[in-house]
Amino acid sequence: MTDKIVCVAGASGLVGSNIVKQALQKGYRVHGTMRDANDESKTKYLMALPGAAERLTLFSANAEDSKTFDAPLENADAVFIACFPPIYKAKDGTPAKELDRERGYDEIIRPVRDGCLNILDAANRHGVKSAVLCSSTSSTNPPQPVEIKTEQNAVSDAEHQMDQKKYTAAEKIVMEDAAAYFCQKHGIRLCVMLPTMMTGPVIMPQHLEGDSHARFIEMLNGNNTHHERVPAGSMSMSHIEDVAQLFIAAYESDNAQGRYFAVYDSWSWQAIYEEVAKHVPESALPQPLDGQPEQPTRFDFSRRNSLGVSMRDIPTTLEETLNWMKTDPFNAVYQ
Ligand SMILES: NC(=O)c1ccc[n+]([C@@H]2O[C@H](COP(=O)([O-])OP(=O)(O)OC[C@H]3O[C@@H](n4cnc5c(N)ncnc54)[C@H](OP(=O)(O)O)[C@@H]3O)[C@@H](O)[C@H]2O)c1
Repeated sequence: MTDKIVCVAGASGLVGSNIVKQALQKGYRVHGTMRDANDESKTKYLMALPGAAERLTLFSANAEDSKTFDAPLENADAVFIACFPPIYKAKDGTPAKELDRERGYDEIIRPVRDGCLNILDAANRHGVKSAVLCSSTSSTNPPQPVEIKTEQNAVSDAEHQMDQKKYTAAEKIVMEDAAAYFCQKHGIRLCVMLPTMMTGPVIMPQHLEGDSHARFIEMLNGNNTHHERVPAGSMSMSHIEDVAQLFIAAYESDNAQGRYFAVYDSWSWQAIYEEVAKHVPESALPQPLDGQPEQPTRFDFSRRNSLGVSMRDIPTTLEETLNWMKTDPFNAVYQ
């Protein structure tokens, strides 16, 4: 047990709720934020976590308003920021890909950059010296592909992404750069986590609606809704609980700083579907790949491994996820 308080911004999210769970398990007092801390459809699952009744306090806070983070960050030793899910549409519903550069920046990128800075600013006001920020591997695609990705060579170029109208992807590298600049200026140790697809048991039923989980529920029900044919490409994956452990390990390792891949590995979709086929009805499977699979993304995981978290491999993660879904954990999700 520790007296330390950690703040999790985005406690009701897929990533944030798992950080809350791990932090409680490790004995921390946790200040969790969400936009409406009176929303019982979410809070009841968080307050049911082991240790929550004694050590979890939930706060309403919105990244648009830095002051709303004052209360949750008071006396906190660290802040975990996991409250910027990708923005795919402008406020009027226009898809990001159809926006011109000015609107793309103002309506897709700026809210994320400014929201992150608002939280860091509040952290700085309260003397918080450690921050762990959730980004994504969408910030790891340089204009010239690299053979083996490291956290240093796999850096997206926001200008290049914006030229291609990939504003949603550019959000992340712009956020990371702004956060790194702010933290360096104010002496905050910043670690940035880079996950892709995360599966595994989730804490609240709302998380089953996200792409990563919804596709598997459909497949367990015998429906093939995601890929008509196995794509030639690949997907990077990890177990959500392992990702949460990486966040905590980065905070607890005094020397950790900078970017970390938060994926176990990248596999071809063909290999992923071969594994999934062991657990779902045949009717759920896409048509076989026409041709050869492409080489999956290759990573150098030295930095990730330096955090000392033992991560589950892809077959284990898929098996655990699908077996857990078969237990119908929240009732009526698996028919
Ligand atoms: N899910 C994935 O497969 C995946 C893959 C790669 C990277 N990531 C990254 O992981 C991070 C977290 O994603 P997630 O999947 O955990 O998202 P999520 O499940 O949608 O959760 C988002 C969290 O942020 C809160 N939030 C939303 N808007 C907010 C605002 N304006 N101010 C304050 N809090 C706000 C939400 O709370 P309320 O809605 O309750 O207010 C919720 O707690 C993101 O940066 C995302 O890009 C996710």
